Parts: sequence; structure tokens; C-alpha cells
Amino acid sequence: METIRTVKEMQTASAGMKRAGRRVALVPTMGALHEGHMALVRAARDQGAAVVVSVYVNPTQFGAGEDFKRYPRNLDADCQACEREGVTAVFAPSDKEMYPDGDTATWVEETRLAAQFEGEKRPGHFRGVCTVVAKLFNIVQPDVATFGQKDFQQLKVVQRMVRDLRYPIEIIPVPTVRETDGLAMSSRNQLLSKAERAQATVLWKALQVARDLFNEGEHKTQRLEDAMQRTVSLAPSARLDYARVVNAESLEPVPEVRRGCVVLIAAQIGKVRLIDNVVL
Ligand code: PAJ
Repeated sequence: METIRTVKEMQTASAGMKRAGRRVALVPTMGALHEGHMALVRAARDQGAAVVVSVYVNPTQFGAGEDFKRYPRNLDADCQACEREGVTAVFAPSDKEMYPDGDTATWVEETRLAAQFEGEKRPGHFRGVCTVVAKLFNIVQPDVATFGQKDFQQLKVVQRMVRDLRYPIEIIPVPTVRETDGLAMSSRNQLLSKAERAQATVLWKALQVARDLFNEGEHKTQRLEDAMQRTVSLAPSARLDYARVVNAESLEPVPEVRRGCVVLIAAQIGKVRLIDNVVL
């Protein structure tokens, strides 16, 4: 497995893979890799493609006062995990490679799906995500790319960007991988104290409450949302940002909950902000 540090080397490597007749699959990550990321790697490998995993903690998607500095970084362990999964190359560029002038004057911004939920709570977040993902697409030139359903809104925003900008890239969604107690795996889980970790399961509990109510025949949006709010309020360290049931394509409110709707939740557990979702 190769570890690639520069844009130029990445372009050369990707061209080489294609010359050898291989499709190229990109798995964009910010590192601190866990089993959720590895599910993306396996889905990419299942495409029969040469797999490139990018590891880059992208500064432009973090707001002021967010956890950019605290974000866990461990490139050696990430490379070992990728090697074990048969990854062809890890692309781990420096900030200078990704933002040669120290900043960017050109942004890529999806303006519709990104406007609410995470986009509203974290202004500029999706602009940073779309800009870095567009850069990665331009550098790696993948045929396919895998994204986790764990970040449901991000997946939808990226799919829309790919359609709008006519990127010839197939986006493959990958189901959320969870810990045994239901907590969605996330690099940020490492930042939780032991007591907070125990309470972090409240997001999954609230999603299950909503799903159970729906399966029992409750189709009123407000009832499901109220039940989730009550569940989260039982965890003293948890502060709910939102718990909403929306249309899974438009992310618009629904008058009545139907199968296929998505339940989105975000909460602050101590200093750590966690998100999760479930499609009904
Ligand atoms: P990161 O949080 O590292 O996640 C990288 C990819 O792994 C995303 O597509 C995310 O949805 C997926 N992922 C994370 N946890 C998962 C889980 N438990 N189950 C399934 N998939 C999971 O998302 C980002 O990085 C960044 O915004 C990025 C797209 C790399 C742009 O900087």
C-alpha cells in the first residue's frame, strides 16, 4: 500500500490505476478510522476497484469554537487499518497541498439541502465539506465514491452536488455501523468521558422510540418528535439540538410520517456534538 502526500503524486497514481484498467474508488475521511469507515472501504472494494482512502482533517468545514484542534488524529494507525483491508493507497495531504494559499477564494456550495439542520447549526460547514470533496474528486478522479448514511444530510448534499456539477462519479451510500449498545461509531466518540459515553446512547434510544411509535401506527410528526425530545431530556449531560422527521430526499417537513421518511437527531453530550438518524 502506498501513502501519498502530494496532489501531483496522487494524480500520477490515479492515472496509473486507470491505465492498468482498474476503476478507482475514493473513500473520503478525516481519519481516526473505525469500523464505520472500514465498512465504506469494503463497499468500495466490492466494486472491484482500486481503493483510495483520503485522510484529511479539513479546516474549512469546522466553525470557530468547534473541535478542529481536538479532532483525533492518528495517521499511523489509519494506514495500518487500511493496509489490513487491502487498500491500494492512502492519500494524506498537508494543508499546504489542499489549500496552497492558506485559504480559498473559490467555494463549492450546495444551497438547498444544506440550508437547515447541520447547515443551520454549523454555518459554513457544508460549504467546507463540498469544497474539499470537490477538490478530492478533482485530484483523485474516482469512478465511484462511498459515503456513510450516518451523516445523512452530508450524503444528500454530496449527491446533489454531484448531480448539479455533473461529476461522472457514482456515489454509493453505506449503512451506519453501530457499537453493540447502538451508539453510531464516530471518531468524536473518543472525546467523550466515561459518564458521557454512557449517556451518548440516548440518541439511538430516541430514534428507536420514534421508530417503534411509527411501527405501532403513530403517523403524527409532532408526536414522534415530542417523544424523542422526552427521551433525550432523561440524560442529564445531553442537550438536544434537533429531533425531526422529514422527507428523506428533500429534507422538508412532512405533514404525516410515511415509510421512507428519515428521522434526524443531533445533541450535544457534554462538549461533544453527536448526530444520528434512521430511515423508517
Ligand atoms: P468522517 O467523519 O471521517 O467520515 C468519513 C465517512 O465515513 C463519511 O462518509 C461518514 O458518513 C462515514 N462514517 C462515519 N461514521 C460512520 C458509521 N458509524 N457508519 C457508516 N459510515 C460512517 O464525513 C467526513 O469525515 C468529512 O465530512 C468528509 C466527507 C471526509 C469531508 O471532509
